[in-house]
Amino acid sequence: MDYQELMNKAIEASTKSYSPYSKFAVGACVLTDTENTYSGCNFENSSFGLTICAERNAIGTAITAGEKKIKAIAIYSPNAEYCQPCGACRQVMHEFKSDSGIDVITTGSSGLKVLTLDNLLPEGFNL
Ligand code: THU
Repeated sequence: MDYQELMNKAIEASTKSYSPYSKFAVGACVLTDTENTYSGCNFENSSFGLTICAERNAIGTAITAGEKKIKAIAIYSPNAEYCQPCGACRQVMHEFKSDSGIDVITTGSSGLKVLTLDNLLPEGFNL
């Protein structure tokens, strides 16, 4: 799938963000090895530590649909250029890495940037 198309789905998901506390909206969309896509947005809680990031929401939706391998994830925030995944989300992505790894796509004023999870999280944790 075209990465701009994946990013468009992340942008759409960001419009659903529930982020009244930080006012920082995020949307994400994962592409699986089965060529399916799953979107998620961040949703916050008045007990702040219960907040769920957009990336983990999208990944959880993919897992619930029976997916096991992620090839790419697009991340978007209207509040930041080139929004990066937090450390916790990098480790969650690591768990479901496809054989070819995961491309992490962000966007900003110079267009799409394609990073890799291997660069963002070298030596991820495994049991
Ligand atoms: N957030 C995400 O959704 N993804 C990230 O990778 C970084 C942070 C959310 C969590 C919280 O709702 C808001 O952004 C500010 O931290």
